[in-house]
Amino acid sequence: MGMRVDIVTLFPEICAPFLNTSILGRAADKGLFEAHCHQLRAYTTNRQNQTDDYPYGGGCGMVLYAQPIADCLRAVAAQAAAQGRAKPHVVFMTAAGKPYTEEDAKRLAACDDLVLVCGHYEGIDQRVIDAFGDEELSIGDYVLTGGELASLVVADSVLRLQPGVLAEEKGYQEESYWDGLLEYPQYTRPEVWEGRAVPPTLLCGNHTKVDAWRAAQSRARTRARRPELYENWCATHPAPIPRWKRAESARLVKTPAQWQAVAEIYRACTGADAGADAPAPAALPQEAQGQGWAFYLHETAANPDAVVAVRHATGEIGWLYVQPAARSQGLGRKLLDFARKKLPEHPAPYLQGVGRHTALYTLCLGMGYTPAPGDGLAGECTLKMVYTRQNETAPE
Ligand code: ADE
Repeated sequence: MGMRVDIVTLFPEICAPFLNTSILGRAADKGLFEAHCHQLRAYTTNRQNQTDDYPYGGGCGMVLYAQPIADCLRAVAAQAAAQGRAKPHVVFMTAAGKPYTEEDAKRLAACDDLVLVCGHYEGIDQRVIDAFGDEELSIGDYVLTGGELASLVVADSVLRLQPGVLAEEKGYQEESYWDGLLEYPQYTRPEVWEGRAVPPTLLCGNHTKVDAWRAAQSRARTRARRPELYENWCATHPAPIPRWKRAESARLVKTPAQWQAVAEIYRACTGADAGADAPAPAALPQEAQGQGWAFYLHETAANPDAVVAVRHATGEIGWLYVQPAARSQGLGRKLLDFARKKLPEHPAPYLQGVGRHTALYTLCLGMGYTPAPGDGLAGECTLKMVYTRQNETAPE
């Protein structure tokens, strides 16, 4: 027996056609779920079939009576019980509810019977929500004239997760929000449309390359459009440290030529056009040496391309700069990992002054660093990031 969804509404004529059409309509015809829309007015007991009244305490608008909603919910529960179903899970759709997310969709998709109650006018008598509601959900920070569209949004996002509803089960696993990242851009024929070509990687026929391109697009989009989702994704998806290539090295900076290379990288990264992400340190690299910083210069095939420094006295990591031309290859990750391993005597190495929503911040999140407790709460824009991954704090 498939899932059952009941919608309690003053406007079943809005809800029913949606559930009977397209993908959901076909799935319902196949018996993959059953959906029922209930006319609330049919449960009124007054002569005028009135469903609402003025609010106690005054104010504009009308409030839905508790009684018809309660009686309708009892009738739905009796129908479900007659089918041998579990007690229905009752959700009130209101603008004051908890924000609805894909996580909620996944959770509700596991219900045997889901009942969605649509509010109308100014609201619903709170007592019936308290008595029957398992939760209140809002589909967004805006106010609708009623809960019908909201209940259809929830029904649609829950029902599409039922086995067999989507042609390809894999389909929804790749989509926006499923894994906490937004979906990558999609293209179909023709190859060139009004002068705009499909990105060449998608035509190369190499699935590994296509997957890598799509993953990079997803991350870049999420980072740009939904920084809070991206931060959360980084913190829950530890980034693997790329292997060092044979041509790579990182050496303690000693010679004038090495200091020169460090200064050049620093200038390239903090110059007007490059270092939007980079914190501007108080002093130049060589001066920082006097404050106990040990600098390491990274080279690829004898070509200096990145720098990082550690301070053994305090456990601080800093001065992480990657030449603009050498970015997006995991160098920052390698050097942050390298620097931490240079501080085995410190159980909690840290970075100071990391800007929120910068590449360095999300890099830190993905590598087991978290903002120091209290940091950022007062709206500071730079944070102290402390390495706190439990299972890796032992000296290496
Ligand atoms: N009813 C009115 N506005 C709503 C919203 N944003 N979400 C859910 N139900 C609503």
